[in-house]
Amino acid sequence: MGKIFVMDHPLIAHKVTMLRNKDTSVKDFRELVYEIALLMGYEATHDLPTEEVTVETPLMVTTGRQIKRQVALVPILRAGLGMVDAIMRIVPAAKVGHVGLYRDPKTHKPVEYYCKLPTDIEERQVLVLDPMLATGGSAVAAIDFIKKRGANNIKFMCIIAAPEGIEVLSKAHPDVDIYIAAKDEKLNEHCYILPGLGDAGDRLFGTL
Ligand code: PRP
Ligand code: URA
Repeated sequence: MGKIFVMDHPLIAHKVTMLRNKDTSVKDFRELVYEIALLMGYEATHDLPTEEVTVETPLMVTTGRQIKRQVALVPILRAGLGMVDAIMRIVPAAKVGHVGLYRDPKTHKPVEYYCKLPTDIEERQVLVLDPMLATGGSAVAAIDFIKKRGANNIKFMCIIAAPEGIEVLSKAHPDVDIYIAAKDEKLNEHCYILPGLGDAGDRLFGTL
């Protein structure tokens, strides 16, 4: 089974509370998603492999460590886009793939409309980004595509997760660690997360 990491940090908790607030503006929502993703990115990269290198300081030659495995970010469109810049800020050499999925409003099943991934994705640590893990259908489908292209080091980062989605994702992809800012109570009859924050894509892009 993959590991589940639920963030336990006062700054993340504070920002998630602001994100949930229905009166938070589009601008603030976008900034909060960025800030939460940045803080989570530190955690999700804690086990990136490093190698020893030599470095010359102004005073002497010494050894240090540098990242050995390159990173690929794969936001699930649309809402995952809101987390990309934050992780790029701390892993600037990361390549970025995109998987386009939307949930059919009636069946709640993911429908694919786009997939473009870095050609060397199998060599990279892949971070799949989506603020919401509800039924888990979108995350499972996105990771299916990414694995078909040969990736085998995959983590999933989300801001809000429902218990149902965590179970579905960890059963379908037991090798994938999941990083969550807040674990919520349940899904409602429309498969929205409760208490949640509403529709992440609409709130991020102002399409309510
Ligand atoms: C949202 C969200 C996830 C998905 C989660 O996207 O960003 O991708 O729903 O739900 P699931 O776990 O039940 O699959 P949505 O389908 O609303 O598309 P959008 O980002 O384009 O708004
Ligand atoms: N997608 C969202 O954006 N919000 C939810 O609560 C569930 C799926």
